This record gives sequence, C-alpha cells and structure tokens, in this order.
Amino acid sequence: MADNYISLTKDDSSQAQQLPILSGTLGPSVIDIRALYAQTGHFTYDPGFTSTASCSSKITFIDGDAGILLYRGYPIEQLAEKCDFPEVCYLLLNGELPNGAQMQEFVTLTSQHVMVHEQLTRFYSGFRRDAHPMAVLVGVVGALSAFYHDVMDITRKEDRYLSAIRLIAKMPSIVAMCHKYSTGMPFIYPKRKLGYVENFMRMMHGDPCDDYQANPVLARALDRILILHADHEQNASTSTVRLAGSSGANPYACVAAGIACLWGAAHGGANEAVLNMLEEIGDVSRIGEYVAKAKDKNDPFRLMGFGHRVYKNYDPRARLMRQTCHEVLDELNLHDDRLFKLAMELERIALEDPYFIEKKLYPNVDFYSGIVLRALGIPTEMFTAIFALARSVGWIAQWDEMIADPELKIGRPRQLYRGVAMRDVKPVFAR
Ligand code: SDX
Repeated sequence: MADNYISLTKDDSSQAQQLPILSGTLGPSVIDIRALYAQTGHFTYDPGFTSTASCSSKITFIDGDAGILLYRGYPIEQLAEKCDFPEVCYLLLNGELPNGAQMQEFVTLTSQHVMVHEQLTRFYSGFRRDAHPMAVLVGVVGALSAFYHDVMDITRKEDRYLSAIRLIAKMPSIVAMCHKYSTGMPFIYPKRKLGYVENFMRMMHGDPCDDYQANPVLARALDRILILHADHEQNASTSTVRLAGSSGANPYACVAAGIACLWGAAHGGANEAVLNMLEEIGDVSRIGEYVAKAKDKNDPFRLMGFGHRVYKNYDPRARLMRQTCHEVLDELNLHDDRLFKLAMELERIALEDPYFIEKKLYPNVDFYSGIVLRALGIPTEMFTAIFALARSVGWIAQWDEMIADPELKIGRPRQLYRGVAMRDVKPVFAR
C-alpha cells in the first residue's frame, strides 16, 4: 500500500509518471519501480546496488549513520550481553526470543541433527590437506543437498524449518572437520550433552586421546563472536543466497553459494586479510606507510577491516569485538599481544586522518575479529569459515523468509548494454 507518490518527468515530455513510495517500520522509504519499465521503457541503473532495496524483510535492521544493528528489533549490544548463540538462532528463525520451554525444545531438536552422514566425511579426502578451508566448505555444504532431498518441499514451512535446523546443527561439525582435515588429525564426533560452542571448540581443538574441557571465558567470547556475525541485512552473501533461492534451488546449494561469496576479501574474507595485513605492517613504526598506501588512489591497497557500504559510523559489532578482544587477551595473559596493540594504534591513527574522516571509514566487524580468533587458537585460514558458521543461520533465515514471501519472483536483473549493435556474420575469407 503506497503512502505517497513521486513524479518522474522527462524534459521532453509533459506526461509525468507516478511511482508509489512505500514505507517500512524503520529506515528509508522506497520508490516502488516495479512498473517503471512498463511505464517508461527505462531501467534503473545501480551497479553494486548502492541505492537499491532488493526485498522487504523483518529480520535485521541497520542504521549505518547511527551505528545501530537490530536482530528482530533487539539491539546487538543487548543480544551479545544477555543471550547466547542458540537463542539468537531461535530469534532469527522464529522472530521472537524463546522462553525456557521453547529453548529446551530447540536445543533438543538441534541436538538430534548434529551428526553428519558418514559418507559426507569422505568428501574431505578429495581435497589436498592444504586446501583453503573455504574451498572445502563450499564443496561439503553444497554436497549436503545430495543427502537431504528427502524432506525438501520448500513450499512447506515444516520442511524449510527442518532444513534450517539441520544446517544450524551440522555446520559446527562440518567447519571443525575442515580444520581437522587440514591438520591430519582425526575428526571428532559431536557430543549432544555439550553446549553449541563448547561442542564446536571440542571438535576443533580436542583429540580422541584426551578429554577436552573448553575454557568458559573463551567459550563465551566465541559465542559472542557468533552472535555478532549471525546476520546483517542484505549483504553480498545473503543477497547471493536469496538470488540462488529465488529459482527454487535446494537450500544447502543456496548456502554453498553464500559461502562462496563470503570468501571474498571485500566481504567475509576481510578478517583473514586483516591479520595478514597486521603481520605485514609488523610494527607501529610502519603504520604511516600503510595508511599512506591506503589513501593513494594509484595503490590498490586498502586498509582491511576498515570501511563499510552501510556503516558511515562505528560498526557496533567492531566496538563489541574490541571489548571481547580485551577480555580474551586478559584471560590468556596476553595483555601485550603485539598485533592487538598494533591494531589499536592503527585504528587511532586512521580515525584521526582526514581521509578516513572525510570518507567516513571506520573499523568494521572484521577489524578485531581476527585478533580474537587467533587468540582463541583458531588458524588464520579458518577465520572466514567461522564467519560462515555464524552467518549460516542468517542465510537460512533470510532464505526461509524469501520463500514464504508472497512477492517472491525469480531474481532476474537487466543491464545497460554497451556492446556492439546488431551485425551480420561474414564468411571467414571476408573477415
Ligand atoms: C563485511 O555488507 C555487509 O553488511 C558486510 C558485512 C556483513 O556482516 O555481512 O558487514 C561484513 O563484509 C565487512 C567489510 C569487510 N571488508 C573489508 O574490510 C575490506 C576493506 N573495505 C573495503 O574494501 C570497502 O570499504 C567495502 C568493500 C567494505 C565497502 O566498499 P563500498 O561501499 O563499495 O565503498 P567504496 O569501495 O566505493 O569506497 C568508498 C571510498 C572509495 O574512495 P573514492 O573512490 O570515493 O575516492 O572509500 C575508499 C574507496 O577507495 N575506501 C577505502 C577503504 N574502503 C573504502 N580506502 C582505503 N581503505 C579502505 N578500507
């Protein structure tokens, strides 16, 4: 239902085109251009979708200017402090935080699906041991669609929910197996009696020869990291999942597409790139050199972990991540962690630099996450896989919302064609 209208007039025609303006609960209204091409013969043009709303959603809201992030209306700061990751999974999927009974039922249900098909484990052996974990993850998660087509009528809410439960329950095992495979260590089976994060940490760091007991402070820190990464509106990987899902593709194949997109250094791959950048900078004395490179238009180098398409203020997740950094390094007596001190000095210098101030470039979620993950004993090449573990609940929640959306249509953008006009094929001797 339109709240208002906007008129479009071309300078060479008197007929104004009326386009509806639609308003949501929060944030900018949208100009409904669905009839634009039929009315005007024109497409809109928006490479990178800087001004385009691709869908309507009730899941996550971001106010980039104010640095606000809400999951189903709850501020990320409150969720990170008062909830755990399974609660946030329930919230993203169902729209409300669970009461005690609902939480117990959710934990019991997911615990029934923590095992992966034994044949799935054979997929890993097809990869080199030094394969990047994200390459393995894309393959193995995509392969889930070969195992779970039994209850896959995506038009049925129950089947979609079971797909979501299976994905949430199995991702910790699948991600931990990526790490174990790279080390040559045996896979560790999940234990139903352990909590979500404790289970994951045991599968990542434990071995069959000893009992593994997760440090509760570190487990809580990782739980918070998963909460901070769980969903983020229509980012590149979520949009990839939605576009793949709009054709009716299997949800595991859609999530595999999201994992592939997340891998890019401009997106989820940035956390790994931040740590590599900090290692390359090496010392506070070289920060100025790298800040200058980041500002040099002729230099492709960018300050990884800085800038964001939506946040033109401090990413609230980065602030929470920096706080988690302090807590983890304190717990591990790593107060003098050189990379953390280097990162904080780099942040201080960048935030005082006119270039970063003018372009509103602030640390994003990836700037500190790598330092925390490294302190938690997670190898650098696994950082983006941890991001994918967390984001899988956001992807599947957004996929579910899209499939249930009465406005669902297959995503099929058009283009501005700048190629050669129509021409005839000449015989080869005449070319
Ligand atoms: C994530 O979208 C999401 O929500 C993503 C995410 C999520 O949770 O899903 O938040 C997760 O992907 C966080 C972002 C992680 N990526 C990085 O940290 C990589 C470094 N940052 C960028 O490359 C960049 O800032 C992006 C990709 C994040 C955003 O790019 P935009 O919105 O397309 O902005 P832009 O490239 O047009 O940059 C605007 C200007 C440019 O200068 P001008 O051409 O206007 O002169 O700012 C400059 C850029 O050169 N700029 C940077 C910079 N980021 C932008 N300059 C130096 N260092 C940087 N990091």
